Formats: sequence, structure tokens, C-alpha cells
Amino acid sequence: KSVDWNLQTAQKGGFKHFMLKEISEEDEALANTIYAHIQSDKIELDIDEDLLRNIKKITIVACGTSYYAGLTSKYFFEDLLSIPVSVEIASEFRYSKPIFSDNNIFIAISQSGETADTKESLNLAKALGIKTISIVNVQESTIARLSDYVLYTLAGPEISVASTKAFVCQLAMLYLLALKIAQLKGIDVEDYIKELNSIPPILKSEFNHINSEVEKIAKKYSHVKNFIYLGRGLSYPLGLEGALKLKEISYIHAEGYPAGELKHGPIALIDKSTPTFVIAPGIEPFYSKTISNANEVKARDGKIILLSEKYSYIADDFIESPKVSYFFSAFINIVPLQLFAYHIANILGNDVDQPRNLAKSVTVE
Ligand code: G6P
Repeated sequence: KSVDWNLQTAQKGGFKHFMLKEISEEDEALANTIYAHIQSDKIELDIDEDLLRNIKKITIVACGTSYYAGLTSKYFFEDLLSIPVSVEIASEFRYSKPIFSDNNIFIAISQSGETADTKESLNLAKALGIKTISIVNVQESTIARLSDYVLYTLAGPEISVASTKAFVCQLAMLYLLALKIAQLKGIDVEDYIKELNSIPPILKSEFNHINSEVEKIAKKYSHVKNFIYLGRGLSYPLGLEGALKLKEISYIHAEGYPAGELKHGPIALIDKSTPTFVIAPGIEPFYSKTISNANEVKARDGKIILLSEKYSYIADDFIESPKVSYFFSAFINIVPLQLFAYHIANILGNDVDQPRNLAKSVTVE
């Protein structure tokens, strides 16, 4: 299962930057990744079924955006399977003494398949006798070759240094793996599969609907020096990823926090010049709790950009997201976060696809 990596797909196709083109391709990338692995409601993955059926613990290791895809998936894995999932940064993991026991598996996530720290983490897991799965985008890459099982994301070539479509595909692959394990355990996941199948067309119309609106909001905030991102549950790692995107290409300092941690420090940063991007899917208790944290920002003159399917009067700017269930909101809400960073960087005149000091694939320590 592969996609064409020809020159044509590697061109900008009418877009000013590869990054915007790649965000616009997320629906297609996601559809390719999902539909390749679902056959009449059954998930097909090339991994030993006994291994999957008996998993007791999952360790996910990655860097950068791939790490945030892993962190986001933890909520789905644990809710669906009641299996503990630990998600670790590769450069930390590789110098640690991980504790594994029987029926533990190791998952490396890497777009390029070449990231040095992720590769060495994989080697460490292998040396400890643990079965390894890699989720990679580049065919025949080093990490793919080294691991026992490979799940390819079918995102196609990603040229922009800041990763976008690879993230949604990695997340989809992690969800597919969770759903596969669930099927092997006899858990009914029909509704989840249906909803996963429905996400690509929603992403397509979402991009068309919100792109120019997010650009307008980006104009209002492009002069800002510091940004806070807040989310609860799986919106928290999305906030981390949104803040990373903003740092990478706009060079604006941004930090993501779990919404409830605000009062334990970051709230001291809030004033009228430090806006907060609040990600609040309309599901309880997440919505009310997050809005109440956003209220604390408001009370200190902080401006609020609210991303939700439910409007609140506390929003200075509101980005309405399409309504999907909680676990699938991650696929939907990442798009405006990526677009927001993109438009700010573009307005500032930055080299969006080749941001300063960054490399697409970090093959040295
Ligand atoms: C670099 C890139 C990021 C990427 C990270 C992990 O920092 O600039 O966009 O998320 O590496 O890369 P990987 O290829 O392992 O996913």
C-alpha cells in the first residue's frame, strides 16, 4: 500500500506555500490512510493478532508533532481498551531505563522514519526484547526497516517543515490500531468505525469554510508576542501542538497548558497583550470546565479565541467547529490551529515552509 511520490504531487498546486497545500490535503490523506485499512467494517492491519489480543501495556515514543499525535491517542486507547498507555519523548526515553514486562509493546511514530532519537529508542526497546511497531510516512525508511511491524500513514510527501497532514494520518493510524485491538477483544466498535469513516468529508468542507475566517482572526493577532493555548482531555495535547505550530513558523512565543493548570502559574502571564486560544469541544464536563477556566482569563483582560461547536459570550473571536463526538474532535480541531499558525506566519512574511533553525528530519542528536 503506497501512494505516488512523483514530482507533480510535490508541487504547490496553486497554493502560496506547501504548508497550506498540505493542510488542504488533509481530508484526502486521511481518507487514504483510513480506507486502506477498513474492509467491510473490519480493520485490517499486518500485525500478528495474538500479539495484539494480549497486549497489557503500550509505550509510544516520538518527537515533535509525532509525539503530540501519540499523546492525543492515549485518551482513545485507554478509554476503549482499558490498557495503560505511556507516551514518551524519544530523546528522554532513549537515555532512561524503561521497565517492560510480558505482553508490552513499543510504538515508534515518525513521519520521516529517520529521526535519530526515535530510532535509538526503538533500538533500546528491541534490545530489551519488546515487540515493536512503527507508524511512519516514508516508505522503506530506517525506522520502518528496524521495527517488527510497520504501519504506513498514507499522507503522501510532506514538504513543509512544520508537519500537518502527517499528524492527522498518524492519529488515524493510532485509532485504527486501537479499534483493531478492540475488535480482537470482542468490543463492539461499529459506531466508532462509522464515525472515523465520516471524518474525511467533514475535514474537506471545514477547510473550505474556515480558511478565510481564520485568516481574518490571524490578522488581528499577528502583532502579539506571547500566546497561551488551553485545553482539557484530548484538547490539551492539541493545544500543545497548536502552540508548537505557532512557535515553529511565526516565531511567536506560545505555550500550551492543561486548562486546569492555569491557576497554578500561567495565569500570572495573562494581561491584555497575552491572548489565549481555548479549545473546548462542546462535550461535558470538558466544555463547562474549560469555559470556566477561560473566564479566569477574561477577568484579567485577556483576549480569548474560542474553538468549539458551542458559542460562549466570553469569546472575543469564535471559530465554530463541526459537531462530532469527543474522540473525533481531535481530527477536526487541529485544522484551525494549523491554519492560525500558517496565516500569522504568512502575514509576518516569514519563510513558512523553511522556518529558521529547523529541519524536516533531525537525523543527528
Ligand atoms: C522535526 C520536524 C517536526 C517533526 C519532528 C519529528 O523537528 O521539524 O516537524 O514533528 O522532527 O519528526 P518525525 O519525522 O520523526 O515525525
